Amino acid sequence: MKIYVTRAIPENGINLLKEAGHNVVVSEKDGVLTKEELISELRKDKYDAVIPLLTDTIDGEAFDAVPTAKIFANYAVGYNNINLKEAKERGVTITNTPGVLTNTVAEHTIALILSITSRIAEADRFTRAGKYEGWAPMLFLGTDLKDKTLGILGAGRIGARVAHIASGGLGMKICYYDVKQNEDFENQYNAQFKSTVDELMSISDVVTTHVPLLDSTRHLINKERLSKMKPTAYFINSSRGPVVDEKALVSALKDGVIKGAALDVYENEPVLAPGLALLDNVVITPHIASATEETRGKMSEIAAQNIIDFLSGKTPENVVE
Ligand code: DGY
Repeated sequence: MKIYVTRAIPENGINLLKEAGHNVVVSEKDGVLTKEELISELRKDKYDAVIPLLTDTIDGEAFDAVPTAKIFANYAVGYNNINLKEAKERGVTITNTPGVLTNTVAEHTIALILSITSRIAEADRFTRAGKYEGWAPMLFLGTDLKDKTLGILGAGRIGARVAHIASGGLGMKICYYDVKQNEDFENQYNAQFKSTVDELMSISDVVTTHVPLLDSTRHLINKERLSKMKPTAYFINSSRGPVVDEKALVSALKDGVIKGAALDVYENEPVLAPGLALLDNVVITPHIASATEETRGKMSEIAAQNIIDFLSGKTPENVVE
């Protein structure tokens, strides 16, 4: 059968598909397809399956461009780029790649926390610029993490792994907010449940978000919520950009409402909110929290396996509804 992949991904998955006897066509463009390009590519053949990326908007028009494809296997754990309602109406199965990237994203989150609290990126810029003139007692004073409170928004797989590393490795105290109270999470990480986002924001020294992007989580972090944080606190986001009102965050960082932020995701990727990149009290990475050789390879295998299973009549392991 014929499979279309919207951008080059690690070969592991492509090879699995080929070994299973499928024909694979990978977009030759070195970059994200525009909406028009995507539609025109999908119309080119009677593909049986598609692997899209989180940078592709998969809506009714995309499904209609390739009505033969009854599975779209997203190459990401998040699937906010896909209109599930339109998929359902057309009987299209959607899958994602959960699990494999949990630890990688958690490690990147911890790296962001350490980078901003130890001022790594700022100090690196300073040292490269030839400004280092010798040890000084007040040079780049940062913030200790041991015994500080980490507030986790979203106690899912990634939130739990962050809690594990932060409590076990860094000696942080954990509190969390989630729509559901989670006793296992509390027992494992000695975590305290906070019944409102506001309460979590107000007591935490570092707040980190691990929620999916839904209507209910869009701008979950806004001006008002940022104003609840301690002026010494840090805000971290490795989930989805639109969870945060980025303009409000830039203002909060400029006005000293909070001490710093470290972000891997942005509200209008790849565009950053005006002024964000000019601030010294932020660390910014380009949506790479899952970007290790191992994890990106496994994501490609999972997307491929979801398609192989579906096309051989089995229910894929990672169907999203
Ligand atoms: C995902 O998978 O949703 C990450 O944001 C990118 O790997």
